[in-house]
Amino acid sequence: MKNLFAFLKKNREITNEPDLDMTKIPKHIAIIMDGNGRWAKERNLPRALGHKAGVEAIRKIVKECDRLGVEYLTLYAFSTENWNRPVKEIDSLMKLLVDYLKKEFEELNANDVVINSIGNISKLPLICREELKYAYEKTKDNKGLILNLALNYGGRSEIVDAVKEISADLINKKISKDQINEDLFSKYMYTSKMPDPDLIIRPSGELRLSNFLLWQSAYSELWFSDINWPDFHEKELQSAIEDYQKRDRRFGKVK
Ligand code: FPP
Repeated sequence: MKNLFAFLKKNREITNEPDLDMTKIPKHIAIIMDGNGRWAKERNLPRALGHKAGVEAIRKIVKECDRLGVEYLTLYAFSTENWNRPVKEIDSLMKLLVDYLKKEFEELNANDVVINSIGNISKLPLICREELKYAYEKTKDNKGLILNLALNYGGRSEIVDAVKEISADLINKKISKDQINEDLFSKYMYTSKMPDPDLIIRPSGELRLSNFLLWQSAYSELWFSDINWPDFHEKELQSAIEDYQKRDRRFGKVK
């Protein structure tokens, strides 16, 4: 019964979406959540409050992706380079992560969301790792949106890690040199169990990937906006998807 209501609700809302082709929703959306600091500065607020406002945007966008039927949502929450920020800011980001997981867990779980992460989380504070572990365990059999948090993530270090693992498997004769190809390489990436992102979104006016999903973004469609992440609402996500649906994805081939 619960599922029937959810189905009816989803379909009623979807039919209210005149500009989106519901048969062409990107399977995997990845977002570089940028501009929290500038959002705070514009309001004479501390940077930590910019990140806090960024978490509100996460809440909305996760719900909207779920409603639209996006299967994977990857959020760049903390990069390998973000350790170079002031300790106070790093602490506030780690605290926000714990608070988010604690506060949102019940609702995410009830909505069948799977909580996942990419990146080297062994370097995160224990409390973050514990909260993440709990969330992975409890949601691993869910069947809905896969929410993938990029934490202590760097595209280059992901590639280096893959090379190290491939070398170890070569030395241990688990694989042979001839087996190394793009498909095999992909299996050694943190994202081995998910498709490459169809659409990468970066708000805040910056036009770069900043070490995000370097391997996986080879054929991703990129979408940029001047809006800072805390001001990124459902409407912006819909615009990004609408633009994406107009793109001609050829993957290097001729139509
Ligand atoms: C970039 O904005 C944003 C980040 C480095 C952190 C993003 C993290 C969150 C939104 C919250 C924590 C995450 C979770 C999953 C709860 P910036 O600070 O670089 O902005 P600026 O370029 O304007 O200074």
